Amino acid sequence: MLELYGEVRAGYLEFARFADGASDTFAQWARAVAEDDEVVAWLGQLPPVKRQPNLVFAAARAHGVPAPGPYEGFRAAVLGDEGAAIRDTILTHATQTNEARRLATLLPALALAAEGRPLALIEIGASAGLCLLPDLWAYRWRTPSGEHAIGGPDEPELECDVTGSAPLPTERPAVAWRTGLDIAPIDVRDDERVRWLETLVWPEQHERLARLRAGVALARREPPPIVTGDLRRDLDALIDRAHGEADGAAVVVYHSAVIMYLDTEDRRAFEAAMRERVAAGRCHWVSMEASGVVPGLVADAPAGHLVLGIDGDAVASADQHGAALRWLR
Ligand SMILES: C[S@@+](CC[C@H](N)C(=O)[O-])C[C@H]1O[C@@H](n2cnc3c(N)ncnc32)[C@H](O)[C@@H]1O
Repeated sequence: MLELYGEVRAGYLEFARFADGASDTFAQWARAVAEDDEVVAWLGQLPPVKRQPNLVFAAARAHGVPAPGPYEGFRAAVLGDEGAAIRDTILTHATQTNEARRLATLLPALALAAEGRPLALIEIGASAGLCLLPDLWAYRWRTPSGEHAIGGPDEPELECDVTGSAPLPTERPAVAWRTGLDIAPIDVRDDERVRWLETLVWPEQHERLARLRAGVALARREPPPIVTGDLRRDLDALIDRAHGEADGAAVVVYHSAVIMYLDTEDRRAFEAAMRERVAAGRCHWVSMEASGVVPGLVADAPAGHLVLGIDGDAVASADQHGAALRWLR
């Protein structure tokens, strides 16, 4: 049996290493899963794409398993009466974590791409759209030579540690137009969907939960439009719309933690299509994905960092949740 689901155990052990230091609960649960033949077999009955620890643990929490809490609580729930309901949640939900602090690392790139013009923003893989509101947050970047802050005192603030010569903007770029594209957008006004987003935040990460709630409150004032569609098919129509509806604005297509959802062939096709769109002057392209996920965007990034690219060139690496920005040149 262990042989049969060896990749499940390996996946959970890898996740445990990833969670070390960020969530003791999930690191411990993941190691215990890898040793637990019955739970491994239960996971093995799920479609491979649904076996990921983030999704499975969040589904268990959604059904009342306490986290922080002992592994036994998780085990008893999935193997007991709650197992079928947890399985149903796993099959009907996806990991769509929406982290607004990524804006603190995206903003310098968006400002460069704007070239002084107002922005027409197209975020692909927008989830609930919390990263579509770069002009509504305040920012505090901590650099080796001191702090650099922009935005109003009453606005929720995103903090980020910066190294290297990052071109930190002195003011937020104006946003003339914005629209998200997501295969399964989250309506920020839907309490149940927002609760799922909250459940996806790891148990010990209170600061991230508070930021998510601040982001939801901000987005609920005037929810950013998000079109339901597939980035592999529906992007060109949206770029055309941006040009038609925001004449004179700098059209920027951007994404963070999205392209990993595509298979290898689609990742290559997406990159080729984006490079063509940039070369044709149809848009600028700001990308923030793990190194090599966009195959041509590779950089020597510290563990837990994503690579920030502008128009297909790697310019920085950034902590996956926006806590740090390391400019490369
Ligand atoms: C991990 S979330 C990232 C959300 C947001 N970009 C952020 O950084 O907070 C990834 C999002 O990509 C969306 N997604 C995955 N595959 C997609 C596709 N082929 N087309 C459009 N959206 C997709 C998912 O539905 C999900 O909302």
